[in-house]
Amino acid sequence: MTDLILKQKKVGFIGAGNLAQAIISGLLESGTLQKEQIVVSSRTDKRLKRVEEKFGVQIRDANEKVVDECQIIVVATKPQDFFEAVEPIATSFGPEHTVISLAAGIQLMSLRKILFECENIVRVMANVPVKAKAGMMGYIMAKDSVTSARVVEALFSPLGKVIEIEDEEAMSAFTVGAASGVGFALELMQYWQDWLEGYGISKQDARAIAIQTFIGAGKLAEDNIQLSFYEYIDLIASKKGVTSAGLESMREMDLERALRIAFEKAYIRDRDLGK
Ligand SMILES: NC(=O)c1ccc[n+]([C@@H]2O[C@H](COP(=O)([O-])OP(=O)(O)OC[C@H]3O[C@@H](n4cnc5c(N)ncnc54)[C@H](OP(=O)(O)O)[C@@H]3O)[C@@H](O)[C@H]2O)c1
Repeated sequence: MTDLILKQKKVGFIGAGNLAQAIISGLLESGTLQKEQIVVSSRTDKRLKRVEEKFGVQIRDANEKVVDECQIIVVATKPQDFFEAVEPIATSFGPEHTVISLAAGIQLMSLRKILFECENIVRVMANVPVKAKAGMMGYIMAKDSVTSARVVEALFSPLGKVIEIEDEEAMSAFTVGAASGVGFALELMQYWQDWLEGYGISKQDARAIAIQTFIGAGKLAEDNIQLSFYEYIDLIASKKGVTSAGLESMREMDLERALRIAFEKAYIRDRDLGK
């Protein structure tokens, strides 16, 4: 269903790669936008033609045309291509635009500098499960704006959960927890699988057990938000039982400390890359 905020609006995409296509597909499948409302430009004709065939959206042969035609612009290039795409057309952006940057690591300060005529600038950080419509997206706005917040939530909620982040430091923490977090969770799932295989369970089954256990724990926690994770553990782990034996050992070995150090290292790397 179209959020009224997007009614009669055109949404432009500069860059039509993996993330842009995941967003376009989510918007069309959910009925959030009609294909006539989506206008796309990219670096190569080949990519544009493919996107036109796949989604039936409007394509344009220059980024500037997208900016001229649309009220909402999503810049969906890789960070290293961002300035090459936006700098030559920076003066085409004006106060009438809401500009959303998906470029990982490019902070609001840099976006404000380059898009000097724009007030509504939003940086969105998405994680890879957007591809499975189970993404986690965080956004941070250059200026508090109820309109920008509604636009972002309407555009991105078909791909998963969307939350507002207060400042760039919290955005780095979000990046570690949600984006790098997917890598960390997969690493843990590999340990699960390897250990199960050691007891003769087939690779395929061990993989399925690991996946289903993580999904199941997540779903239970989601369905019982009144309980903290620890309170849920207390409900399922009986004293001196099997789960308690494993948890005691994890706590004795200070697994939390090891993970906190890993998170901090990733956080520091994100802050350094953003400079
Ligand atoms: N993929 C994901 O699941 C994912 C998840 C979270 C965050 N992100 C972030 O999202 C951003 C985009 O990632 P992606 O995976 O979608 O990248 P991608 O697949 O490489 O797509 C980038 C797109 O930008 C286009 N482009 C490059 N230079 C351009 C220019 N000067 N003018 C117009 N278009 C230009 C490319 O065009 P051509 O193909 O025509 O050369 C391509 O269509 C990155 O910052 C990434 O970190 C991605």
